[in-house]
Amino acid sequence: MGQIIAVANQKGGVGKTTTALNLGASLAAAEQRVLLVDMDPQGNLSSGLGYPKARIEQHLYHVLSGERALDEVIVDTELEYLRLAPTHTDLIGAEIELVGDEARHGRLAAAIEQVAPRFNYVLIDCPPSLGLLTLNALVAADSVIVPLQCEYFALEGLSHLLATIERVRAIYKPALALEGVLLCMYDRRMNLTQQVANEVREHFVGQVFDTVIPRNVRLAESSSFGKPVLLYDVESAGARAYLQLAQELMRRRDAQVAPQPPRPAPSRAVTQRRALSASGGTE
Ligand SMILES: Nc1ncnc2c1ncn2[C@@H]1O[C@H](COP(=O)(O)OP(=O)(O)O)[C@@H](O)[C@H]1O
Ligand SMILES: [Mg+2]
Repeated sequence: MGQIIAVANQKGGVGKTTTALNLGASLAAAEQRVLLVDMDPQGNLSSGLGYPKARIEQHLYHVLSGERALDEVIVDTELEYLRLAPTHTDLIGAEIELVGDEARHGRLAAAIEQVAPRFNYVLIDCPPSLGLLTLNALVAADSVIVPLQCEYFALEGLSHLLATIERVRAIYKPALALEGVLLCMYDRRMNLTQQVANEVREHFVGQVFDTVIPRNVRLAESSSFGKPVLLYDVESAGARAYLQLAQELMRRRDAQVAPQPPRPAPSRAVTQRRALSASGGTE
């Protein structure tokens, strides 16, 4: 049975889609069978793999509305081991239509259950909100990767995500775990980056990936060309970082290191104070 991982953070622009796409491609390069599920109606993951809206006929809206099985919407990518369940802006409609449905939280889980045995990993890219689409992803998932941008207030709002994970654990899925916090857009030269990284590692002891993802323009360029970075510039720092992340994830799985339940995020005041003192500012 494949491991199902949601990539979630309700903040936009922190690296969720870049992580889902490039971690997925890196696992596929290691001959792991990977399914990427694009749960963000903006469709950046789909277009980042060469499937802009105009090219998509069947998509996740049809799956969540019950018109199609997940299997019927899955498409191939340039990488043999990497497949995609694409999305469309219509998916926003699913969020509204499902409101009156008792089983609304479990739609994606039920769909993925049908195909999961054929994959080693199923990665779900979440939208920047904690609405019904993210909830569906969390209910479907075994664990969650939380990308964080190493900037001011990186941890702000994280408590909402962690509380949502707790709620899903309490009501739907007691085994849902935090796979790891991933430090993205890491810039070694910046004091603030180091400070935020230290604070995150202090708080989430043992729950932060050793691999950090550097700020690297190749990552942004490659998705605009509809490719994972390893098919665009395999020597780039971005490509190497995601390949390393894939190795770290696989090692953990081999060693059967069980992901742990999340703990509450530090308060905003602490984050803010530390961020300001790191940048030399005053409160
Ligand atoms: N490590 C990185 N270095 C440089 N640019 C990045 C990096 N990660 C993401 N980006 C760029 O930042 C923007 C936001 O990233 P994205 O993965 O789409 O975030 P999210 O899915 O959380 O909204 C995109 O334009 C993406 O190409
Ligand atoms: Mg995104």
